[in-house]
Amino acid sequence: MPTFDEIADRLHSPVADVMRTQGPVRRVVAGEIDDDTLLELLELASHASSDSHRRCEFVVVRDPDVKHQLARANRQGWSVYKRVLRTRSQDDAMVESRQWLSDHFEDVPVIVVACVRGRRPLFPAIGASAFYGSVFPALQNLLLAARAAGLGAALTALPLWSHWEARRTLGLPRRVTPVAVVPIGWPRGTPEPARVPPVGNVVHLDRWGHQPYRARGRP
Ligand SMILES: Cc1cc2nc3c(=O)[nH]c(=O)nc-3n(C[C@H](O)[C@H](O)[C@H](O)COP(=O)(O)O)c2cc1C
Repeated sequence: MPTFDEIADRLHSPVADVMRTQGPVRRVVAGEIDDDTLLELLELASHASSDSHRRCEFVVVRDPDVKHQLARANRQGWSVYKRVLRTRSQDDAMVESRQWLSDHFEDVPVIVVACVRGRRPLFPAIGASAFYGSVFPALQNLLLAARAAGLGAALTALPLWSHWEARRTLGLPRRVTPVAVVPIGWPRGTPEPARVPPVGNVVHLDRWGHQPYRARGRP
């Protein structure tokens, strides 16, 4: 495993390189991640944009019993979602990597649970955007920092499919909402970047459906 100084050095990687090579890494080894490294990643994550009065807060799970509870919830969620995914996609690799995580969840060295204070506002609609939007920028920062450090990480919501159970497992007060989970570890093999469509396919000019950049992407 690299030393903390080596990891700190890797965190100076050019941001565009890190963004382009970032992708979900679910297969990891059981090797330790020290507190200095983890806190450095979470500190970088916390620089993300958020709603003015809400911040993403993190529950770092290392305790095997707590991990086991989350692993059990993840397996329950996965047993249902797997069937949904199979009807939507023929992509075996996508199913296999999720299956691997489900089978080895307890072996992942660190599980980060991202939480936000409060409950999702039901009205107006932008209340929900601001609520969840206070968490996901920090999680993207965390994924990027993990990638730069040479760690593997992936965003998942499945261990939280029952908020009631997640609250009980993590000892969360009623006014704290768990939003997403990021298992982190040293990658097995070489991580692959996320597969993304050419940028022109997801850009609309002035009005939805006007896509003059369609099929244009990076060579
Ligand atoms: C809001 C949100 C929820 C997600 N939930 C899950 C999840 O429950 N399980 C999972 O394996 N990945 C989850 N992901 C990760 C994405 O599925 C993943 O980044 C994307 O599918 C690309 O990965 P792939 O190449 O393995 O498909 C989630 C991502 C986001 C933004």
